[in-house]
Amino acid sequence: MTALPFPVVDAPDPEAEERGRKLFASGGEFLKGVVAMSGMPPADRIEVCFAGRSNVGKSSLINALTGRRSLARASNTPGRTQEINFFTLENSHYLVDLPGYGFAKAPVATVAKWQALLKSYLAGRQTLRRAFVLIDARHGVKAVDEEIMSLLDASAVTFQTVLTKADKVKDAEREQALDQTRRALARHPAAFPELIVTSSEKGWGIPTLRSVIAEIS
Ligand code: GTP
Ligand code: MG
Repeated sequence: MTALPFPVVDAPDPEAEERGRKLFASGGEFLKGVVAMSGMPPADRIEVCFAGRSNVGKSSLINALTGRRSLARASNTPGRTQEINFFTLENSHYLVDLPGYGFAKAPVATVAKWQALLKSYLAGRQTLRRAFVLIDARHGVKAVDEEIMSLLDASAVTFQTVLTKADKVKDAEREQALDQTRRALARHPAAFPELIVTSSEKGWGIPTLRSVIAEIS
């Protein structure tokens, strides 16, 4: 059997890991929450964003990356992050926590408003270098994830898939989720060719993701 493309990224070499560690050592600062394009901070630095279904672990991942427990709010209440939240890292980077999508209980009008904002953000932010699309290791890629991936294709924003909550699944389930993800990614031209497996809870993949972000220019 031929192996599917989209391998899991190799662990960084010590120098790359150190660059990642250094970039995140300051811990980052919350800058602002934005509800309209007019509220966006100046597009004057490298920007990466975190997208994914409600509850997939976006805020927890930002907390794990920055080593700050409650920088980005993480909660058990899906749909909690309702604004586009900007965090600064040194004077060189923005980390952007996007509102979760696919939360069935949100009112239709609210969902439509978020979607419009998300769309303008993904299509209109010149300095957005990469989107990280988070996929829950227990659930794999769902239809709503593919919608975002298609939006990223159309916006020509490269996106890299990050499997979250790897601590919640056995090895075999994780491999299954990875293969299902690989098959989905093959349909998306904007997909970055390597995947990242993480657990914010256990710290797995966090140094790798830090160095991946530090290597983006
Ligand atoms: P929204 O802001 O609602 O879109 O959610 P989110 O994607 O920001 O998810 P959040 O980080 O708030 O996490 C949702 C829940 O999953 C919380 O209860 C977290 O503690 C839990 N969680 C997040 N990451 C992990 C992980 O790596 N492992 C485990 N076991 N739980 C996690
Ligand atoms: Mg959140």
